[in-house]
Amino acid sequence: MHRSNTCGELRISDAGRTVTLAGWVQRSRKMGGMTFVDLRDRYGITQLVFNSENDQSLFEAANRLGREYVIQVTGVVAERSNKNSNIPTGDIEIIATALNILNKSDVPPFTIEDETDGGDDLRMKYRYLDLRRPAVRKNLELRHRMAFEIRRYLDSKGFLEVETPVLIKSTPEGARDFVVPSRMNPGQFYALPQSPQTFKQLLMVSGFDRYFQIVKCFRDEDLRADRQPEFTQIDCEMSFVDQEDVLQMFEGLVKHIFKYVKNIDFTEPFPRMTWADAMRLYGSDKPDTRFGMEFVELKDLTENSGFAVMDDAPYVGAIVAPGCAAYTRKQLDKLTDFVKRPQIGAKGMMWVKLEADGSVKSSVGKFFTDDQLKGWLERGNARPGDLMLILAGETMKTRKQLCELRLEMGSQLGLRNPQDFSCLWVVDFPLFEWDEETQRYYAMHHPFTAPNPEDVDMLDSNTGEVRATAYDMIVNGNELGGGSIRIHDSELQDKMFRLLGLTEEDAQYKFGFLMNAFKYGAPPHGGLAFGFDRFVSILAGLDSIRDVIAFPKNNAGRDTMIDAPAEIDDSQLDELCIKVDIDEK
Ligand code: AMO
Repeated sequence: MHRSNTCGELRISDAGRTVTLAGWVQRSRKMGGMTFVDLRDRYGITQLVFNSENDQSLFEAANRLGREYVIQVTGVVAERSNKNSNIPTGDIEIIATALNILNKSDVPPFTIEDETDGGDDLRMKYRYLDLRRPAVRKNLELRHRMAFEIRRYLDSKGFLEVETPVLIKSTPEGARDFVVPSRMNPGQFYALPQSPQTFKQLLMVSGFDRYFQIVKCFRDEDLRADRQPEFTQIDCEMSFVDQEDVLQMFEGLVKHIFKYVKNIDFTEPFPRMTWADAMRLYGSDKPDTRFGMEFVELKDLTENSGFAVMDDAPYVGAIVAPGCAAYTRKQLDKLTDFVKRPQIGAKGMMWVKLEADGSVKSSVGKFFTDDQLKGWLERGNARPGDLMLILAGETMKTRKQLCELRLEMGSQLGLRNPQDFSCLWVVDFPLFEWDEETQRYYAMHHPFTAPNPEDVDMLDSNTGEVRATAYDMIVNGNELGGGSIRIHDSELQDKMFRLLGLTEEDAQYKFGFLMNAFKYGAPPHGGLAFGFDRFVSILAGLDSIRDVIAFPKNNAGRDTMIDAPAEIDDSQLDELCIKVDIDEK
């Protein structure tokens, strides 16, 4: 062994022991006849001391060490006179007696410390160096811990981890597929799975009863902070269950993770909210419920005022920001600019202040009496000192804009603490989503989701109103996971495909294998999938899932470290019978 101990484990009780450590030189400081070196490995940092009085040549060798040199040091553990309470090894140092340089290092392109001077692009190009930083490594340690606890919980509930193939035929999760050409089948392509959805359903037909897999999924979609082209799901499926069984089982999983990884006990059942209520009260199917500020609808109180913005709008909605009546003109203008940003798209914002003395002030005071304005404030349960912010327009669009404004106010008021966790089930999603552009329905979840049994009669007559037995788990305004009870009847599945505009041939071509399987005794089944990267990033209190993935892609879908994607040789293209013609495109 190169070492007797790691750089994170020696304590004052080890004083007097002779030890050998190995690791990377984080930094060194020369002070008179002594040189102090911080030696780092995965487990921590230990201070080494090279004293010229003890050994001049060793002292000189230490002075030649560069950052990130890999060294092996033998020495005696001693109590430090100048203790550092910020690190667990801060009470001791190693008085070095031998130094062995195991490998030199070029000067790294950025400092390898938590507070690094490296920008995003540089850190991604040298990700293997970035991963040496304790802050990044901690995220991967958390990820490991969570994966371990997930397996422990699911194993204890009888789930089997089964691997499913990566070279498959398209799965309909709504994104574009990544495709892989088949050399042995010229002109034909595999798709990489957007999820193992159809395979886990087939495993239920096979009688596996309880399946899970921590699995890579691939989606060619526009990237955001919470999206990567390849990401990991905790994918699960169960047989002989209804929605309640699935919610209980996986609420149990989320609680288990919080308890054993974060030491947070959720003793109460997670709240549940219908999709319709989530849209009405928060303008989002993934509301951040760490704070209230629910929407107040004012349309009926604003009618016939002569103020066209409100009169002409089918929807007038507001939020009440507590204690914000003191907002200045400038602050209010800034909020107006915020909602008018193209990504949000509101035309303007109105406001009413309930001053501390009970009087009202409003940007629309010309059109309404004080009593009318007080009526609005009353509906919003405003208290003296509160500020009501109002948007008007087309219902769904305005709700979404108001949602952004609510989140912004939540941030401004410090109500979105990443160390607070608020979990919520959103249930009763619509089964279909109408798309104006293509003038057809799409499955809101995926085409295998069962309609709510109470709504099956409406499938033809009132298609848009049919509710699905689908559910999402929301944590702090993030969609952590989602799933549904599946259709297990080939006739109903057939009908679903038809409603989604698939011809019989299309359905057979794409999903014939599943429809055929359903003819051989498919059990009732359902499940869900959590986004594992999102789960880790939420528990780590991070905004971006990139920080919890060892080797992530950038926003252009590139891995700048290995420089992928890249062109391939003509000979490879020939073998695959593929001709690339970018100019023509
Ligand atoms: P869904 O498409 O909702 O459901 O995906 C499940 C969860 O996966 C995460 N997720 C992502 N994470 C990172 N990057 C992405 N590009 C990305 N896309 C999705 C989200 C999401 O909630 N087969 C169904 C599940 C089921 O019905 O059982 C499915 O894949 O956290």
